[in-house]
Amino acid sequence: MAEFRLPRNSRPVKGVTHAAPPGARALRTLRIYRFNPDGGANPRLDTFQLDAGSCGPMVLDALILIKATVDSSLTFRRSCREGICGSCAMNINGVNRLACTTAMRDLPAEIRIYPLPALPVVKDLVPDLSNFYAQYASVKPWLQTRTPASADRERLQSKEEQERIDRPAACILCACCSTACPSYWWNSERFLGPAALLAAYRWIIDSRDEATGERLDELEDPFRLYRCHTIMNCTDVCPKDLNPARAIAEIKKMLLERHS
Ligand code: SF4
Ligand code: SF4
Ligand code: FES
Repeated sequence: MAEFRLPRNSRPVKGVTHAAPPGARALRTLRIYRFNPDGGANPRLDTFQLDAGSCGPMVLDALILIKATVDSSLTFRRSCREGICGSCAMNINGVNRLACTTAMRDLPAEIRIYPLPALPVVKDLVPDLSNFYAQYASVKPWLQTRTPASADRERLQSKEEQERIDRPAACILCACCSTACPSYWWNSERFLGPAALLAAYRWIIDSRDEATGERLDELEDPFRLYRCHTIMNCTDVCPKDLNPARAIAEIKKMLLERHS
């Protein structure tokens, strides 16, 4: 019989509660997934009550405050604090989002924070993105050309040609989309997932690229591309308002047209 529950040693147990500092003016409660690979203990959910008046307005600000003043072992990724680097992606109240662009005032009083779903956890809120990056690299996300470059000018594009790739090229590789995709949860070893497929699409439609046929050949596979069942979770969660589901549909259309 299929087993739908997490293995016993993966189930989060109740963790430590850190009470709010005396005189807290804007009390917020954060329940945060903690996991330390050393020692073999189950993951746990720690509770942090904090004075949100002592930090900036975003969830990332609260995490930084906790790390600085309550528990320095809390582990998470972040860099730009501007929604640009994609490193602070995590699951906040059940939705994959960037902690640096998610305002606490838009969330309920209790904020639950987990790492991105369906990936191995390195520590606390840090998932292992090795497979995600390998899949991105597998679509050869760079310009491929055959014709020699002109000696005195770059490979030019018209305004319209640039605008076609403008949105797909804005992907910050945060992995919110792929880790929100049920097909990716079940087949992440073989299905490329929406982020890598959006990157593939960005190069397929680039007017300067001359490897379109090879790129489509690589994707024509029951798992790499066709495990997408147009569930649309990817597009729903993208913090940059991109549309990977549409890009995937366009790739499928191009493959269909190639055979007709
Ligand atoms: S549209 Fe495709 S890639 Fe996006 S969530 Fe659904 S199945 Fe996954
Ligand atoms: S498509 Fe959106 S959600 Fe997916 S990796 Fe790129 S920026 Fe993140
Ligand atoms: S810290 Fe860079 S996107 Fe959040």
